[in-house]
Amino acid sequence: MVAIAERILLTKSNVRELHSISVYLEHGGYQALKKALSMPPADIISMVEQSELRGRGGAGFPAGRKWRFLPAGRQLKRYLICNADEGEPGTFKDRQIMEFDPHLLIEGMTIAGYATGSCQGFIYIRGEYDWIAKVLVRAIKEAEDIGFSGNNILDTGFSFCVDVFRGAGSYICGEETALIESIEGKAGRPRLKPPFPASCGLYGEPTVIHNVSTLAFVPFIIERGPEAFKSFGKPGSYGTKMFGLCGHVNKPGVYEHPLGVSLKKLIYEDAGGIKGGKRLKAVIPGGLSAPVLKANEIDISMDFDSLTAAGSLLGTGGIIVLDEGVSIPFVAQKTAKFFAHESCGKCTPCREGTNVIRFLMDRLMQGKGSLNDIEQVLRLCRYMKGATLCALGEAAALAIGTMVRKFRDEFEELVK
Ligand SMILES: Cc1cc2nc3c(=O)[nH]c(=O)nc-3n(C[C@H](O)[C@H](O)[C@H](O)COP(=O)(O)O)c2cc1C
Repeated sequence: MVAIAERILLTKSNVRELHSISVYLEHGGYQALKKALSMPPADIISMVEQSELRGRGGAGFPAGRKWRFLPAGRQLKRYLICNADEGEPGTFKDRQIMEFDPHLLIEGMTIAGYATGSCQGFIYIRGEYDWIAKVLVRAIKEAEDIGFSGNNILDTGFSFCVDVFRGAGSYICGEETALIESIEGKAGRPRLKPPFPASCGLYGEPTVIHNVSTLAFVPFIIERGPEAFKSFGKPGSYGTKMFGLCGHVNKPGVYEHPLGVSLKKLIYEDAGGIKGGKRLKAVIPGGLSAPVLKANEIDISMDFDSLTAAGSLLGTGGIIVLDEGVSIPFVAQKTAKFFAHESCGKCTPCREGTNVIRFLMDRLMQGKGSLNDIEQVLRLCRYMKGATLCALGEAAALAIGTMVRKFRDEFEELVK
């Protein structure tokens, strides 16, 4: 059961039935779009740049800079894609926006589409979110009926349609270029970069791709201004983030806070502390790809720079809490199995690396491993770093390598 926390920035708080366009309009919905359509697109890009909004999909790339990467001159076709694949284990924030406030996303996409000169938007949603895809399709139809989406929006001459595209359960299809291949009807495998999607994306045309939460901030930035956005968070990490807490906590759920909130507060105040009064052992702070933190490392500010400095990642903000009863080698084995299964096999370091690590983890867990196996896992993790085509292999190496390094005694215990 997911608790829907009061959202402090992304939507008006605690409004019921916000998925319906009439309720959304009653609460000021689509005002930002009206304002945006009266402005030159370049001014909108400047506002997003000034807000210093960083992507919420994992890597934290500045959104405004990404929009600037689009080639100069307005080509016939440009695309905007919303990445709603939400495949990272431990992550369930985007579904809150799409299910309960779909018009916020449609409004954000339409503004971004106008600013970037796109003719068509896609929401690439994971297949497992079937009911949410239906919510989105209904909301798009409502917006089209009133003239906020589709042809000649609000009689401005600007046309922008949004289509919902369902994925088929592959984690790699969350990677932006694999996602593009998937929409094109090909196997979801990452492309070599450069060229980046901004210059050569969907069907070879310039394409901007963003996470759901990133696009959902756009109406606020346009309506209230970049400075209002920057009144949340801290330098380098402005705005809020929806943190999803799961695992051994009393109140799992999604909680929105300004970036910079303490991880300890999230676990012990929002999520009500550790289940059954047990002691905390470890926390994976940003989805399974983010390197694990030990219990004594949780007094940390949840922002891009602090987590990177601590050797981990803010990632998706999906926080997995592990109590004292958890075996870290068991978690490492499951993590290795996940990444080996989801590796697309296109590049050798990821295909072979994740599979050999899985094999070694299985052997260690069966009590048949050696100290050399532990060294071999660490060696592979080092070799994979920077050697894979996309971030999947590197993330696997970083996540598993950190578990082995920080909890080495537990792995050695399996050998003894
Ligand atoms: C294996 C893999 C899976 C990913 N899955 C997602 C995802 O489910 N959702 C997402 O927004 N970004 C995902 N990303 C990141 C995207 O490639 C891309 O950086 C992101 O959509 C950009 O959006 P942003 O600029 O708003 O952060 C994934 C990356 C990798 C390497």
